[in-house]
Amino acid sequence: MNKKIKKFLNKKNKSKITCLTAYSKNVASILDKHCDLVLVGDSLGSVLYNYSSTKEVTLNTMINHSKSVRLGVKRSLMVVDMPYNTYRNPKEALKNAKLMMKKTKCDAVKLEGGKKIISIVKSLVKNKIPVMGHLGILPQTEKKFTYKGKKLSERNRILNEAKLLEKAGIFSVVLECIETKLAKKITEQLNIITIGIGSSVNCDGQVLVIDDLIGLSQSKLRFVKKYANVNQIINSAVKRYKLEVLKKRFPKSKHSFNN
Ligand code: KIV
Repeated sequence: MNKKIKKFLNKKNKSKITCLTAYSKNVASILDKHCDLVLVGDSLGSVLYNYSSTKEVTLNTMINHSKSVRLGVKRSLMVVDMPYNTYRNPKEALKNAKLMMKKTKCDAVKLEGGKKIISIVKSLVKNKIPVMGHLGILPQTEKKFTYKGKKLSERNRILNEAKLLEKAGIFSVVLECIETKLAKKITEQLNIITIGIGSSVNCDGQVLVIDDLIGLSQSKLRFVKKYANVNQIINSAVKRYKLEVLKKRFPKSKHSFNN
């Protein structure tokens, strides 16, 4: 097993785990100093490209952003989302995941789904491709974006799928918008690491979209906490720049080349 993944797994029941998304080098290099895992999420489809769903994100787009992120990530685990329709069967998944690993040098790939993807996960793991799972709200195929685990039947299904995925060989699973007690149960009953987004403090770790955390996006999602207002910082810097250009205060002689 990859040393970085071993180190990551060793954190279970010892220390909480911090994960964030990154889509490019400069942000990734900041996150790398603080996070255990940097995820190149296909959320980039809505965050950067204004797509109405992650279905529109292509393998090439994920590869290109991941190459950039790779330049900034030196110590944390780098995981990349396999986009929609790139892992419909074991053969397709293996071909595309191999390409993703080769081109981006990521440490692992993330796949959304439960029962339907078990044979796919098994085939990737057998071929030494580390896999992170994703249960709860599955943005690539979701019809109803409400939290999961309201009904007992749904809670049983998700718990069972988490166990099946663990057995198939995933090293970690993202739990997106899962009811608090169910997140606790999954985290306690699994030996792998659970990473929550909108799934309470009961998970082994947490993940957020970086643009939401720094206030670059205008997210109103309940599970997002805004730790900074970078939108405002950029606004005021650009306003000052514009004013200085208009008033001919920028550039000064020190910013110019004089013989
Ligand atoms: O695409 C993404 O960014 C994700 C995280 C929010 C977990 O899957």
